[in-house]
Amino acid sequence: MPKLTEEQLMIQSMVREFARRVVAAGAADRDRTKSFPGDVLKQMGELGLMGMMVPLEYGGSGADAISYVSALSEIAYACAATAVVMSVQNSIVCESLLHFGTPEQKQRFLVPLANGEVIGAFGLTEPDAGSDPVSQTTTAERDGDSYILNGTKRFITSGKNAQTVIVTAKTDEAKRHKGISAFVVQKGTPGFQVGHVEDKLGLRASDTTDLIFENCRVPAEQRLGAEGQGFQIAMQGLDSGRIGIAAQSVGVAQAALDATVKYTQKRTQFGQSIAKFQGLRWMVADMAVDIAAARQLMLAAAAMKDRGENFTMQAAMAKLYASEMVNRVTAQAIQLHGGYGYTKDYPVERYYRDARVFTIYEGTSEIQRVVISNHIFKDQRKK
Ligand code: CAA
Repeated sequence: MPKLTEEQLMIQSMVREFARRVVAAGAADRDRTKSFPGDVLKQMGELGLMGMMVPLEYGGSGADAISYVSALSEIAYACAATAVVMSVQNSIVCESLLHFGTPEQKQRFLVPLANGEVIGAFGLTEPDAGSDPVSQTTTAERDGDSYILNGTKRFITSGKNAQTVIVTAKTDEAKRHKGISAFVVQKGTPGFQVGHVEDKLGLRASDTTDLIFENCRVPAEQRLGAEGQGFQIAMQGLDSGRIGIAAQSVGVAQAALDATVKYTQKRTQFGQSIAKFQGLRWMVADMAVDIAAARQLMLAAAAMKDRGENFTMQAAMAKLYASEMVNRVTAQAIQLHGGYGYTKDYPVERYYRDARVFTIYEGTSEIQRVVISNHIFKDQRKK
């Protein structure tokens, strides 16, 4: 496993200090009041955390994927709702524009996203198209120099607070995934509005919304990539996004473990600190091993990305293992806190609620297994 370089360690320690001082401070309150962390994200933009892997010339920090996942884990340690906004913006939004945008699109849309001036969102999922995005029904009909978009997107992270949204739509129904295209649409465009805002179990400070397009006219120069390339753009963006979910999982799990170690040392029962009971110490050991394994998978996938290798399967493995791991670890953290873990006096109930969606969004655990097994059988055929 790669040893972190001086620069990667420096970024990690800078973000850790910031996250524990600034991001953690209001996390419980934002969760309770469902308040978007706008001010915190602004400061994160100033620190270069909103477009970390985007080159400096496009307003980013030019960091590698290992630095990015280390930073994202630190933010998630402090506040998972803030981390998901950072994750979507850095991966599927900024990277899609970086890899598929024209020079003009990069200047106009990527620069303000990468430097954190505006928030971005990606609209792929629909009410009846989640795991199977090819079945989406949003359409984009060509009309002269524009496309007319019609349809509804669902469960869109940052839908309400995003200024710039990348949205996929069918430009040719008959061509299945090759008939899906992507468009960059900005708030304020006539025919584009935010719909229902979800009331969620966790990540309550991050907004998840419907996006509604009704005869929304989008200039053809705002199509991202070629006509029919939208599905590829989404899949490629999700590869990066999935390493990000692994990073969020590692961060939340580490926070749950640290809180548990602290609690068990303080809590006394049967005349001694409960941290002295071997049964409970072994639970703590299992939690630590689980987190370490997930961290290695996350770093391995990020290292492959940095080396320019295909990392689709490794991203799915990291996402699958880490998201399942954080659900185990946060449940154990509550168990070790006993009745107090079930109350809002301790942070572990929030970690437990926040982590629940990690096995669902950016591809369910079942979809990750599809991706992994498809790659295994494809590789086998080549042998
Ligand atoms: N990178 C680039 N291209 C890819 C790719 C990847 N990782 N995966 C597939 N493709 C390409 C394939 O090469 C193929 O192209 P060609 O025909 O040109 O060869 C094409 O896409 C179709 O591939 P498949 O036949 O494998 O596609 P499929 O329809 O069987 O679906 C799937 C594959 C893995 C099930 C995919 O649909 C999938 O990942 N589904 C889950 C979607 C998902 O993660 N949704 C979450 C939405 S985002 C979110 O959660 C909200 C948020 O804001 C956080």
